Amino acid sequence: MNIKQKNTFETCSKNISQFIKYVKILTAEGYTNFRPYRFQRTLLRKFADSWQNREETKRQNHIVIAPRQCGKTTISAIYILWYALFNSDKCIAILANKESIAEEILNKVQEIYNRLPDFLKVNIKKATYNRIDFENGTYIFIGAYSRRPICGKTVDLMVFDEMAFCDARVLHDFVVSVFPVQAAHINTQTILLSTPNGYNDFYEIYQHALEGKSSFIATRIQYNEVPGRDEEWKNRMIRYYGQKFFDQEYDTQFLGSVDGNNKIAITIDTRPMSHEKAKSLMAKLKKLYSKVLNKDEIENISYEIKYE
Ligand SMILES: Nc1ncnc2c1ncn2[C@@H]1O[C@H](COP(=O)(O)OP(=O)(O)OP(=O)(O)O)[C@@H](O)[C@H]1O
Ligand SMILES: [Mg+2]
Repeated sequence: MNIKQKNTFETCSKNISQFIKYVKILTAEGYTNFRPYRFQRTLLRKFADSWQNREETKRQNHIVIAPRQCGKTTISAIYILWYALFNSDKCIAILANKESIAEEILNKVQEIYNRLPDFLKVNIKKATYNRIDFENGTYIFIGAYSRRPICGKTVDLMVFDEMAFCDARVLHDFVVSVFPVQAAHINTQTILLSTPNGYNDFYEIYQHALEGKSSFIATRIQYNEVPGRDEEWKNRMIRYYGQKFFDQEYDTQFLGSVDGNNKIAITIDTRPMSHEKAKSLMAKLKKLYSKVLNKDEIENISYEIKYE
């Protein structure tokens, strides 16, 4: 490694925006230089900055709700690799709703690593389909979400993809047992990314983060932050798949149900009020309806809290 390369290594270790200049990703045109969308660049900076300044801010964890196919797994893989190369003796866990998705992320990490210039690579000691060990003592592995701890020790970086699509009961066990220990540590970082999927634990964590009640920073990516997704594209998607599908999969709204076409939908927009207030209003509405409608009619009403 010559002096210039050594300096670049140093710069990349401190500044993820410099690192991504050397990243190549697989696109429709094959492996090409990663040209991040604006929101991808912002998110990567946010992840890195909050990690580097964790002592001051105490908010180094992230929850990101994002539309389908916007490039969220790509930025997870890039961030994991950056973190692994420039932090020694760390344990990084990749979790996902399905093991195959976690494997896909680990595979992306490996593919991006393979295409880095040699001077940015920390040698790999051993790589398998579910684990990569680097010579700097850091390793990345595929973890499982359950009541049991993810591994023998605290995980330094945990990235959880498509969290909202996990089995709700198993996820709840994980969220009440393992999760608080993980998220409370100042020297660890947790990143949750998902497209929304109704009112589950993912929604609760997001809500708490929005209200500033936790160490999580909430980010919501809008459908039109992905290049090419304009009003015309939106109308086409609604024509093809319907409004409800679009709202959940692309407009990242938390909906009670996506298949309730025959239901009467009551939507409470929380923008003018707090979430707590909206919840209590919803409870009152339910009570009120129960006085004027019969049981079957009540079951036909779907309630949603919509918020920005
Ligand atoms: N900045 C970018 N420029 C060009 N292509 C990109 C960019 N970011 C991601 N992609 C490509 O977009 C596609 C979707 O990316 P990715 O799998 O990361 O999205 P996702 O949001 O995780 O999708 P899904 O909702 O299916 O999980 C991939 O082919 C990826 O290579
Ligand atoms: Mg993905």
